[in-house]
Amino acid sequence: MGNTPAVEMINVTKRFGKVTANDHVNLEIRKGEILSLLGENGSGKTTLMNMLSGLYFPDEGEIRINGEPVTITSPKDAFDCGIGMIHQHFKLVDVFTAAENVTLGAENSKLDIKAVTAHIKEICDKYGFIIDPAKKVYDMSVSEKQTVEIIKVLYRGADILILDEPTAVLTPQETDRLFNVMRNMKADGKAMIIITHKLHEVMDVSDRVAVLRKGQYIGDVATKDTNPDKLTEMMVGKKVTLNIAHPKYPNPTPRLVVKNLTVVDAIGVKRLDNVSFTAYGGEILGIAGIAGSGQKELLEAVAGLQITESGASIMYYPREADGAGTELIGKSPKEIRNAGVALSFVPEDRLGMGLVGPMGMTDNMLLRSFRKGKGLFADRKTPKELADRVMKELGVVTPSTDFPVRRLSGGNVQKVLVGREIAQEPSVLMTAYAVRGLDINTSYIIYDLLTEQKMKGVAVVYVGEDLDVLLELADRIMVICGGQVSGIVDTAKTTKEEVGLLMTKFRKEGNS
Ligand SMILES: Nc1ncnc2c1ncn2[C@@H]1O[C@H](COP(=O)(O)OP(=O)(O)OP(=O)(O)O)[C@@H](O)[C@H]1O
Ligand SMILES: [Mg+2]
Repeated sequence: MGNTPAVEMINVTKRFGKVTANDHVNLEIRKGEILSLLGENGSGKTTLMNMLSGLYFPDEGEIRINGEPVTITSPKDAFDCGIGMIHQHFKLVDVFTAAENVTLGAENSKLDIKAVTAHIKEICDKYGFIIDPAKKVYDMSVSEKQTVEIIKVLYRGADILILDEPTAVLTPQETDRLFNVMRNMKADGKAMIIITHKLHEVMDVSDRVAVLRKGQYIGDVATKDTNPDKLTEMMVGKKVTLNIAHPKYPNPTPRLVVKNLTVVDAIGVKRLDNVSFTAYGGEILGIAGIAGSGQKELLEAVAGLQITESGASIMYYPREADGAGTELIGKSPKEIRNAGVALSFVPEDRLGMGLVGPMGMTDNMLLRSFRKGKGLFADRKTPKELADRVMKELGVVTPSTDFPVRRLSGGNVQKVLVGREIAQEPSVLMTAYAVRGLDINTSYIIYDLLTEQKMKGVAVVYVGEDLDVLLELADRIMVICGGQVSGIVDTAKTTKEEVGLLMTKFRKEGNS
């Protein structure tokens, strides 16, 4: 093995027009090491890695692989150097099986399915992956798709692996499984770079952490010599206190009263089972549950995007109205939105829902700005004003509000997605996975914004993954398990353990 690093990036610079995404960066990755690449949204992590994966070519600087200078001008060159990258957005072909995807574009494209399957099985056994080579991609969970992506690069003999925010879309259990596989690969001498915004993951899986700030290389530290506070300081450039303010709204009033909500999906599976709850204006109602427990269906049902079984009722009490409410069931999504019920669902593919990639922020604001009974934006802020406000308050890193959204960094796309809903000043704000892919600083800005909304009397419904955050941010937490409400608790009186138990309440009683 020797001491030669697997990868050396020397004085690497990459510019996009006026933006210097990477400014004379020096980075080293060793064999048998897991390196975390850390930095705020838009700090240049993905760009730097894309120069190793052959998507971008540096304007300046040098790359060495195992001590040898190389020129990487295409993904093929990267493969030849033993580099494989798992991107933030997967690049699999849906109608193909795992095995077909693994061999897609590989040297001898003539498929000997038996040999391929055997080889895949060998890789799985060696590192601890679980995957059915004959399964089609469209039948796969996100985690399975990711597994296929990783096997794909290993199949081609990659010994340098780059994982760009692999955990952003995984459940904690899936993340643990991925980390175990990574540890096995490390023991086998592979060099790995992982990008993640979750500092506990950085502490858990990496040996060393390298930090970028605004395109510049700030430094690197051994993981054992650092902690989340120090890392945040390196990232942001100053000390930041990470705590969530929790003011109380004087008199919360019912805003949404949901009764007997049942949703059955296209193949007859009950996704929501007789759910009843009240969301108050002036309150953050947290929704906790294992991924896929019905969170998405719940928000969509309220937004009018799910067909509900008969007997359900969703009464909406606008702020202005005294007493009389409106039944939302049977209303169209547009009517519901116009009434002031906003939904921001951050999907696994951020550009997949709600944002139009080639358009800028301003035009994307326009997609949301309609109001009942009035002309476009009559007495509302103009889309340009909204875009400016989102840009300023959330610190969206973009050359202008007309810059195509799809060219923003992953986290900045997300800020636009969430910011757009908040900027509409709704009276019910429902948001799911609002901080997915956001750096820690921005996550706290989002928490503050949600609290600010609450203090304006908005009913905030927040589906979250991080129990510590839910407990600090929310006033009450509704836990759902298998589509049923397993408990509604007051955050001032509950514990993480109690919420955790509620998350699996019915699973344990049923079959285990
Ligand atoms: N193809 C492109 N054209 C123009 N600008 C780009 C392009 N790709 C990236 N940028 C800009 O370069 C900067 C760095 O982006 P990059 O995607 O590398 O950030 P990142 O650290 O990966 O952020 P995130 O954590 O949000 O994913 C950003 O300002 C981004 O807008
Ligand atoms: Mg990125």
